[in-house]
Amino acid sequence: MIILGYYAGHRPVLTVAEPELIKSILIRDFNSFTDRIVSRPKDSKQARSISQACGDDWRRLRHIISRAFTTGRMKRMYPSIRQCLRDFQTHLDACAQDRRPLNVMEMFGNFSMDVMATCALATKTNVHNDRNNPVVRYAKSLLDVKWWKMIAKLALPSRWLARLTVTNTGQPEELVYFNKLMTDIIETRSKFTDASNKYTDFLQTLLDANKDSDAAPGVYKSNEEPNKPLKGTGDKTQIVSLKNHLSDDEVRAQIYFILTTAYDTLKRTLAYAIYELAINPHHQQRLFVELREILQPDGDIDYDVLQSLPFMEAVVSETIRLHLPGLRFIRLATRDYTLGTTGITLRKGDQVDIPAYAMHHSQEYFKQPFQFDPDRFFDPERRQMIKPYTYLPWGAGPRNCIGMRISLLVIKLTLAHVVRRYRLYRTEDTDVPLQYKRNYQMTHTKQVIVGIERRPH
Ligand code: HEM
Repeated sequence: MIILGYYAGHRPVLTVAEPELIKSILIRDFNSFTDRIVSRPKDSKQARSISQACGDDWRRLRHIISRAFTTGRMKRMYPSIRQCLRDFQTHLDACAQDRRPLNVMEMFGNFSMDVMATCALATKTNVHNDRNNPVVRYAKSLLDVKWWKMIAKLALPSRWLARLTVTNTGQPEELVYFNKLMTDIIETRSKFTDASNKYTDFLQTLLDANKDSDAAPGVYKSNEEPNKPLKGTGDKTQIVSLKNHLSDDEVRAQIYFILTTAYDTLKRTLAYAIYELAINPHHQQRLFVELREILQPDGDIDYDVLQSLPFMEAVVSETIRLHLPGLRFIRLATRDYTLGTTGITLRKGDQVDIPAYAMHHSQEYFKQPFQFDPDRFFDPERRQMIKPYTYLPWGAGPRNCIGMRISLLVIKLTLAHVVRRYRLYRTEDTDVPLQYKRNYQMTHTKQVIVGIERRPH
């Protein structure tokens, strides 16, 4: 049984890597673990994002925000993502022609921000031609986590952190920029009578939630205990609103979270997928052959066809297994809870970590775990052998990743167009194996470089 207890500074943490217990925490007894740790001060703008919300406040946000992530919404966004890809291809064509090696992490960072600024705010960034574009520059600097801040966060109580500006109680330049950008867009949209028809982005969906008849302002009813609407981790519960629509501040907080999360996760997944295909040419060829059947070099691919490509599915699943963007995900006990037959009792407010990255790299759950092997997912027999709750790229249960569908859409669509049009290859600057930075998380690579050339038509 793999359970590990430790102190993160002053906080006791229980790490649970046991599939059955994970199932209980994430699904069976979810109502005892609805919350995550709140890392933002409760009066900060980011604290209103869904990822930080607790108890019924979270349920209400999830209920409203889910509308932005339905299949119907994804289909409406498809042409905008396709347009971002066309701009990206123009840039890749130039690199291929000059035989310029690609710094894929940086390039997919720019591309991901372009896609997300388009999907979230209907704002094109022109990032491939404008290196100083403010959306990308500020998003990058927000994600540039300083090591001393991480240590301070572990060691110090929150009132000290606020004084040291470790948490964003103040208004750093990046936040001011994004806040103004979104405020301006919201104001402009409010002047259009037909904004809902005109725009298909996340922002509009969230603004429309205020108009929808089933989301009219009122009291949100908890599924669990309607008569006790406000719960969560006791004093960690934030400013809670019972309205069944979002305030402008809440809309801004969601968009801000979506932009920064998507930038980091999509960039990394795409960069590692391309890297693995470049250093494993036989897998690249298999994917190319699958794509050649259904996609012309300059053609379009149907949304539903894209979802039905078995080898593509396997490549993406294996990339995310091997190069999961996050190391772990977290739950807080919202009431005292006895953990299966372990004899361990978690107290209300205790932290539980699910170490997904470590489980994906465990010899016990995946043979030769450091090897890129899409057949784990492609071969039906091998796929069946993956033990439930050992492969958890999106988390699990009611609080899993809400962005899974759009992530898979962007990743698959991008890989389809890149692999169909170009051949990626290992150059003398390609690190094999990858070299990692000594960072607070050991998953940040020093550089990811691959070669690119156009395939003959
Ligand atoms: C490769 C890409 C991504 C991966 C692997 C990933 C993974 C995850 C994981 C592991 C969680 C925690 C789940 C849990 O606690 O059970 C999460 C939460 C979340 N993700 Fe993602 N994510 C990705 C991309 C995205 C994108 C593109 C968006 C937005 C467009 C997004 C939005 C969210 C949100 C809002 C939550 C919090 C959900 C909640 O608290 O209810 N993610 N993600």
